[in-house]
Amino acid sequence: MTTSMVMASSHKIFLLFFFITFLLFPNTQAQYYVSHICYSNQTFAANSTFQSDRTKLLSSLASNNAIDFYNAIVSSGGDTVYGLFMCRGDVNLTTCHQCVVVATQRLPSDCPVSKEAIIWYEECFLRYSDRSFFSTIDTRPRYGLRNIDNVSNPASFMRTLYDIMNKTADEAAKPAVGEKKYASTARGEIVPFRTVFCLAQCTPNLSPSDCRWCLSGAIGDLNWCCNGSEGGRVLYPSCNVRYEFYPFYLLEAPAPTPTLAIVPLPGSQGKALT
Ligand SMILES: *[C@@H]1O[C@H](CO)[C@@H](O)[C@H](O)[C@H]1NC(C)=O
Ligand SMILES: *[C@@H]1O[C@H](CO)[C@@H](O)[C@H](O)[C@H]1NC(C)=O
Ligand SMILES: *[C@@H]1O[C@H](CO)[C@@H](O)[C@H](O)[C@H]1NC(C)=O
Ligand SMILES: *[C@@H]1O[C@H](CO)[C@@H](O)[C@H](O)[C@H]1NC(C)=O
Ligand SMILES: *[C@@H]1O[C@H](CO)[C@@H](O)[C@H](O)[C@H]1NC(C)=O
Ligand SMILES: *[C@@H]1O[C@H](CO)[C@@H](O)[C@H](O)[C@H]1NC(C)=O
Repeated sequence: MTTSMVMASSHKIFLLFFFITFLLFPNTQAQYYVSHICYSNQTFAANSTFQSDRTKLLSSLASNNAIDFYNAIVSSGGDTVYGLFMCRGDVNLTTCHQCVVVATQRLPSDCPVSKEAIIWYEECFLRYSDRSFFSTIDTRPRYGLRNIDNVSNPASFMRTLYDIMNKTADEAAKPAVGEKKYASTARGEIVPFRTVFCLAQCTPNLSPSDCRWCLSGAIGDLNWCCNGSEGGRVLYPSCNVRYEFYPFYLLEAPAPTPTLAIVPLPGSQGKALT
């Protein structure tokens, strides 16, 4: 009796809390953090122009809520800060924007004085640097993540997986420079009674051949991180691949989103892709 009353009242409190939270933050959803890397040996001084430029850059990235890929430059002192975000190809703009906002809030505390850093979430990633990287294919730093469970026939599984991954990568790399480069594949025959879900994506600034080259590296690295695993991902700054035995992306076709828009920013420049 007492126990059930306590449970009932805590349940009410929980519901009330949930309701208040829902009222205050109707759009709040969990953003799943994956990893970050502060990867330059170069650091900047606290309160320097670089720091305030980074702050401006991150807020300009966070304010672009109508696009799933964006790059920007801020340069008000001697240094220039380059930055971009990209969302996973299947997420909608609401989820994308929420992810980018959370990433811009977290990255400065993870990498307080780094001149170069990257942060990956399930739904987006974001990076900045003191060097121009908009037209480079960056395969480092890399991050690999494997599922703890393993398949029973690793050698034949990996062979078939590479084949599916290669086809997914071919598909992702097709669109022209500036267009979304994302593909997903679900295939049932690789392991009996199970479906493997594969994803490949490049930043839109890459050409089809650069994207395919980047994805080849990431696919090859599945051996490095995830040999024989039931799920794995390789994350590069310029492209990434992932596979799982469950659907980790939305299966329905993503809603069309605008391709690159160049939006002028106060005190900085939007940057066209070169
Ligand atoms: C940072 O410094 C270490 C040791 O000096 C060097 O091995 C490494 O390559 C440097 N990393 C970068 C990103 O410059
Ligand atoms: C940077 O600015 C903050 C706030 O104005 C101040 O508290 C801090 O002492 C400054 N740090 C340095 C190293 O100047
Ligand atoms: C965006 O996607 C999220 C997660 O799938 C979903 O909960 C939300 O309703 C979607 N929003 C819109 C406007 O479609
Ligand atoms: C799967 O394989 C990896 C690497 O060989 C190993 O570290 C891990 O413990 C294995 N997982 C299970 C559940 O046995
Ligand atoms: C996948 O592509 C890579 C290079 O693009 C190639 O070396 C490899 O043989 C291909 N694997 C399969 C199974 O098609
Ligand atoms: C991957 O796993 C297979 C089977 O367990 C093994 O033969 C092969 O050497 C492994 N490859 C790497 C790069 O560890």
